[in-house]
Amino acid sequence: MKIQHLLIAASAGLMLAACNNQPAGPSFTVSQQGDVTVVDVTNPTRYILLPIEEDKGEALVRVSTGDEADVWMDVRLAIDTVDYYVPMALPAGKKACVEIKNLPAGALALSRLELSDEFDTTNREYYRPAYHFSPAYGWMNDPNGMTYKDGEYHLFYQYNPYGSKWGNMHWGHTVSPDMVHWTELPPAIVRDTLGQIFSGSSIVKGDTIYSYYTSAGRAQVQSGAWSVDGGRTYTKFADNPRIVAADGRNDFRDPKLFEYNGKYYVIISADNEMQFFCSDNLHDWTYVSAFGDGYGAKPRMFECPDFFELPVEGTNLKKYVMIVNVNPGCWFGGSASEYFVGTFDGKDFKCDNPKETVKWLDWGKDHYAAVTFSNEPKGRIISIPWMSNWQYANDLPTRQYRSQMGMPRQLFAFQQGKEVYVGQKPVDEILAQVKPAEFTTEGKTIKLGDNKAQLVIDMDVKNGSTFSLTNNEGEEVFFACKAGRLIMDRSRSGIIPNDAFAPETYDPKPAMGTNSGTWIPVEQICGKKNTYHVQLWMDICSIEMYVDGGRATMTNLVFPKTPYNALTGNGLSNVKVCTVEL
Ligand code: FRU
Repeated sequence: MKIQHLLIAASAGLMLAACNNQPAGPSFTVSQQGDVTVVDVTNPTRYILLPIEEDKGEALVRVSTGDEADVWMDVRLAIDTVDYYVPMALPAGKKACVEIKNLPAGALALSRLELSDEFDTTNREYYRPAYHFSPAYGWMNDPNGMTYKDGEYHLFYQYNPYGSKWGNMHWGHTVSPDMVHWTELPPAIVRDTLGQIFSGSSIVKGDTIYSYYTSAGRAQVQSGAWSVDGGRTYTKFADNPRIVAADGRNDFRDPKLFEYNGKYYVIISADNEMQFFCSDNLHDWTYVSAFGDGYGAKPRMFECPDFFELPVEGTNLKKYVMIVNVNPGCWFGGSASEYFVGTFDGKDFKCDNPKETVKWLDWGKDHYAAVTFSNEPKGRIISIPWMSNWQYANDLPTRQYRSQMGMPRQLFAFQQGKEVYVGQKPVDEILAQVKPAEFTTEGKTIKLGDNKAQLVIDMDVKNGSTFSLTNNEGEEVFFACKAGRLIMDRSRSGIIPNDAFAPETYDPKPAMGTNSGTWIPVEQICGKKNTYHVQLWMDICSIEMYVDGGRATMTNLVFPKTPYNALTGNGLSNVKVCTVEL
């Protein structure tokens, strides 16, 4: 798609129309009314294109229709230079009005506004992943409301359509028949007068998708909405919010719906614990219980819960798993996903482990806000994580969009020693896209050739070995399988967005919350073995490592200047190289 620049200075447009006796084209005038800058548009196009300068403060912009529901959006309007444009939809009709507040006098933005019927979403980013979902433009964080209905997997997500940094949370929306090929749709639930639309979940009942999300305004409260057209349009409950914190606490968010014994439940993160509520009708909710006080990684804030049952491989056991995303608290710094294994009786969740036990769902720094699909047609529990970390998510080296999702992963539970752990493996649908690739072996080096950086390397790694991925720029991702740990060091991997991204320390017992590189305690999770099976899934700017069929995983971003084209190491055997082609 190409931008059609329909910007026509008011006078020029009108003069041309008068000469040709044509209807007047789109045009606008800018005037100052008190502290509000008013842009009056005549014969509006579909969009007004807003010029953005990313490191500037937020101005307020709204399309003003006179309705109480008109909402101010926070937009980093350009002051000195234009980094890129974002579109704001204008209402159809003969006139439209856009209002701007808090923009410093003389800001460049006012002379660079454009009217257009189109917005160019052609990819401009070198680091855009090939087989991981990323939005065409704008900012994305947590996956939300994931469900399946009528042949479509729905992935909603925390989305800012007005810039590639966090803000203005809407629910973005994309659909897929297979969780691999995605079609992006317009945002499904937009920021409203109750607040930003924070994370939440969906459940399917008959023809309807019911979704709950957090309205984040002056307080965080839970609101509901439903859709009968496959999530394209939603009707919000007229009497939102439906659940408010009983004790007025500030952090109360990210409702995850589930069903148990014919009743609906929702689990909500409430500061340092998770609270369960129950309902017969998805509208009226009663408090049930809380879990989490003092449990797991610290210091942390509980966010984005999930709750489901999994059979434990090789046993007759079934266990309830509570996913709790914590931020901060990650052993390696910043945000990460942990989980608790236990039992649930419709009232209380009881964890099998003592309070201090910490189980990570993934051992990388870029696996957060992981939640699972409801209504999965084959009954699988499939999660998608946001592939970033709050320590540097806003600083990643892209601009047209920022952030991508991790691969869809099927979760499973297994026993190692006396412990029950949760593993994750790539879903069959992504395995179906994997094709053998050409590579050559020279001594201890596997030459990966002129590849498109969307490779899967499958191999056995001897306990005690080290190996590296390198490129022609001298950049390197270093791995070591030593002393019970499988380490990944990305400190020389390419562009380092900020100091928290890749500190060069691998403290075996890092103080909670301190920064370090990433490692899996592979002997603890997979057993003490001579070799481990390792798959590295690479996609332009990420490496997802799956050890022993996904019993342990590590998800990390990397930003090499050119694709890694060699794998060198000792102790590697049975190496296979494939590509992922969509
Ligand atoms: C987690 C989170 C959620 C919240 C959302 C806001 O990444 O902080 O708790 O709903 O992001 O975008």
